[in-house]
Amino acid sequence: MAFTRKDFPEDFIFGAATAAYQIEGSQFGGAGRSHWDTFAKGPHNVIRAEDGATACDHYNRFEEDLDIMKAGNFDAYRFSTSWSRVLPEGKGQINQTGLDFYDRLTDSILERGLKPFLTLYHWDLPAALADLGGWKNPDIHNWFGDFAEIIDQKIGDRMASIATINEPWCVSYLSHMLGHHAPGLRDIRAAARSMHHALKAHGEAITRLRSRGRDNLGIVLNFEYAHPKSNSKDDIKAAAIQDALYNRWFIEAMSKGCYPQEALAGLEPHLPEHWQDDLKTHIHQPLDWLGVNYYTRSLVAHASNDPCWPHLSTSNGPLPQTQMGWEIYPEGLEYFLSTLKENYIGELPIYVTENGMAWDDTLKNGHCDDALRKEFIHKHLEAQKESLRKGVNLKGFFYWSLLDNFEWAFGYEKRFGMVHVDFETQKRTPKDSFYMLQNMLER
Ligand code: FCB
Repeated sequence: MAFTRKDFPEDFIFGAATAAYQIEGSQFGGAGRSHWDTFAKGPHNVIRAEDGATACDHYNRFEEDLDIMKAGNFDAYRFSTSWSRVLPEGKGQINQTGLDFYDRLTDSILERGLKPFLTLYHWDLPAALADLGGWKNPDIHNWFGDFAEIIDQKIGDRMASIATINEPWCVSYLSHMLGHHAPGLRDIRAAARSMHHALKAHGEAITRLRSRGRDNLGIVLNFEYAHPKSNSKDDIKAAAIQDALYNRWFIEAMSKGCYPQEALAGLEPHLPEHWQDDLKTHIHQPLDWLGVNYYTRSLVAHASNDPCWPHLSTSNGPLPQTQMGWEIYPEGLEYFLSTLKENYIGELPIYVTENGMAWDDTLKNGHCDDALRKEFIHKHLEAQKESLRKGVNLKGFFYWSLLDNFEWAFGYEKRFGMVHVDFETQKRTPKDSFYMLQNMLER
C-alpha cells in the first residue's frame, strides 16, 4: 500500500540528500584540489580512475536540480559545502567565487520553498591539508573550526540545520584502516588518530558556531547492523568489536564522554596523548539533533588466521542485495533508531539523513522503471513508521540521493539517484521512484 503524508506526523520533513564532491564538478569556479581528486589518480583506487572533476555539473546546473526537488514536492534539501572550493589551500586565502556559489545556492533553495540542511564536511578535504597529514594532524580541529566559521558567516543564518561532519567512521576507519577511501591508508595508528581527531574537529566547530548563536547543530553518523555470522562465542565477540568500532565509538564519545572498551582494547595505544582531556573539552557536549545514515547489515566472523587486531571479517547476509552488494535489511534501521533513543540520546530529534539503494538503472524510451527502489523506500519508510510508533523522536527522512552521481571508489557505475543522469549529456530523467515520492508528498 502506498504511503501518503498523512501516515507521518504533520511536521515530518521529507527531503533528498547530495554531497558537494559527488555532484558539483571540482574543476569549476576556482576550487582547489581535494584529496579525492588526487586519490582518484592513484593506481586502482577508483574504478576506471574516474573522479569528480565534472560529476553532475551541478555547479552550473543547480537551478535545474533544485527545480526537480521542488517539482518532487520535497520539503528539504540536504547538501554539503566543499572545503577545497572555499579554501583552495585548506586555510588562508578564501576563494570568493566558491563562497559566492554557496550563497547563490542557498538563495535558490529558499526561493523554491525548500529548507536547507547543510553538512559542512562531506569528505572533500583540501589536498594541501592532506599533504600535512590530513585527519592525522593534531591541528585539524582548528583548521576545520576556521572553515566552519567562514561558511557560517556567509550562509549559517539561513540554514534550517547544520551538521559538522558526514560519517566520521568513513572519514577515519574506512579511509585510514581499511584503505577504501581517500587517503587510502591501512594503518591502525592513523585510524585511531583520525577517529579521535574527527570528533575533536566536530566539537571545535560546535563550540564556535554555538558561540555565534546557532541552535540547530548536529552531526551525521552512519550505522551498519553487525550480526554474528554464527552462534559461536568467537563470532559473537567479533560482532561486538565491530559494533563498538562502527556504531558506538562516535555516539558514545559525544553523548557519554567515553570510548567503548571493545574498541579501546586495540586502539588505545595509538590514540594521541591527552585524548581523555579532549573528550571533556571538545567531544562530550550536547547536540541539537542527530543524523542517521543507514544502508545495510553485515555478518561478522572471528578471523582466526588474521594476526592483526581486530581479528574479524565481514560479509554480506543471504537476503536480496542492491547493486552495491549490500543486503536489504530495513529491520536494522528500526533497531538503530530505537537503540539510539534508549541508550544514548533519549528525546533528541533524529533525522534519517541518508537511506537509499544503487541499481544498474537504464532508460527505456526515456523512462526508468526502478520498481526495486520503490519497494526499498517503502520498506524503510515502514521501519521509520514503526520507530515513530515506539516513541522515537524521528523528525524526517532524506533519500540518498537526488541524482545519480560520483559514488566514490565506485566511480559512476553505482546509481543511487531517484533522478537518472546521463553523464555524457548531463540530461536528468526522474525515475519512477521519484514519481512515487512526488505523489506521496503532494499536499
Ligand atoms: C554514504 C555516503 C554518501 C554515499 C552513500 C551511498 O556512506 O555518505 O556520500 O556515498 O553512502
